[in-house]
Amino acid sequence: MKHNILEICYLIGSITFIVGLKMMGNAKTARKGNLIAAVGMIIAIFGTIFLHDNEVSPIIYGLIFGAIGIGTVIGWMTAKKVQMTKMPELVSMFNGMGGACAALISIIEYNHMQHGNVASTSVGELTAIMAGLIIGTVSFSGSIIAYLKLNGTMAKPVRLPKYNIINTIIMIAVLAFGAYMVITGGNMMLLYLLFAAAIIYGVLFTIPIGGADMPVVISLLNSFTGLAAAFGGFLYDNKVMLTGGILVGSAGTLLTLIMCKAMNRPLSNVIFGAFGGGAGTADAGAETNGSIKDIGVSDLAILMNYSKKVVIVPGYGLAVAQAQHVIHELELLLEERGVEVKYAIHPVAGRMPGHMNVLLAESNVSYDKMVEMDEINPEFDQTDVVLVVGANDVVNPAAKSDPSSPIYGMPILEVDRAKNIIVNKRSMSAGYAGIDNLLFYDPKCSMFFGDAKKALTSLVAEIKTL
Ligand code: TAP
Repeated sequence: MKHNILEICYLIGSITFIVGLKMMGNAKTARKGNLIAAVGMIIAIFGTIFLHDNEVSPIIYGLIFGAIGIGTVIGWMTAKKVQMTKMPELVSMFNGMGGACAALISIIEYNHMQHGNVASTSVGELTAIMAGLIIGTVSFSGSIIAYLKLNGTMAKPVRLPKYNIINTIIMIAVLAFGAYMVITGGNMMLLYLLFAAAIIYGVLFTIPIGGADMPVVISLLNSFTGLAAAFGGFLYDNKVMLTGGILVGSAGTLLTLIMCKAMNRPLSNVIFGAFGGGAGTADAGAETNGSIKDIGVSDLAILMNYSKKVVIVPGYGLAVAQAQHVIHELELLLEERGVEVKYAIHPVAGRMPGHMNVLLAESNVSYDKMVEMDEINPEFDQTDVVLVVGANDVVNPAAKSDPSSPIYGMPILEVDRAKNIIVNKRSMSAGYAGIDNLLFYDPKCSMFFGDAKKALTSLVAEIKTL
């Protein structure tokens, strides 16, 4: 009876994960989807604790609830406090913890087997243990390095000579070691050695990759964690762990591929390194010559106030400046004056998928106004003013015109088709790809220098005087 109820809990858990994930595909339903999946997870966890067949002592219950309590408080507080621009760091840390859990399950279950009868352990169980250990550990150590890169502690990619060859050899050695453990049964000492080797591989796999490519790497490591959890599901014959693991694994893989496609870079190019050493240097890609011009706040206010159609292009700088509320105020003000306003959303604007949508939604910008790249590009011809706020790479025409540019082939927002282009940023510094932007030298383009929040606040104030 207890067992049947537990199976029903797992079924509910699995269904809520699938429904929740589906709802997360749309910004309007994402929050509810997240909540539904969380409820399913709670049912699965408490079902396991209370409906499990094994006898559990009160001390073990104390430890379980103590760990859940501590984890909940830490997770809740960090998630509440984190800024949107720091989300990739948080995701990498949470992901690393998931990988560590999968690896610990393997170590603990192997230890149980050592104390029982190793000879009776099936090849399938040993394979699940070793695969969970290797993949979970790589995800753990790789995610910690990704975290350190994102928060600036390890700003520069570390590339040993011939690092690709060294990494490939270590990867093959770790896999061969795992296979040896499955074939021979191994022992506890060897398992710890395998654990250490997988940690080293996770570190070496991640250190050569540039900071700009970290979101892609995190998504890849996320899919590794899902896979490691799915092996745990095999081991325990636990359907909800299996479903959850496979969903995380496949969603992470799809997200990785979508990001690569949006940057027009194969995954191999991300992993084996191309650009991404960090922002601020304009040393790659096209030679730029020509001059730039800037525009004052009063001229810009007049230009925008008397336009028919304005398209706003938000980028990473908008998020850093926390200018989402003032941009919404500008939108409402212009609409009051009869101007049509839309937002153009590039798939990799900002630092993680959906970054701009979430940021703008925070200030109540209507989802209907956020238009995806393929849909908005044909509209730029009829646009009077494009206002680019803290975006750089995603509007760089070099992606279309300069085959020597590291971002050549990346689909961009074709803002150069608009009648007037205004770019708001603080200086002439490069964006994340570290390259100069040809757009700034376009005769139709004027720079509106300044921190996005301050500059837009002064623009709103100026338009109000008209
Ligand atoms: P970026 O190209 O990184 O440009 C952001 C610009 O914002 C910078 O040039 C910076 O110039 C400006 N800025 C910074 N702080 C500002 C502030 N307080 N006020 C005004 N401007 C400010 O951003 P993007 O156009 O959004 O492109 C995203 C980049 O990240 C792409 O290269 C993309 O491939 C990469 N990437 C994104 C993702 C995802 S999923 N989103 C994943 C991997 C990689 P100043 O310093 O002169 O102000």
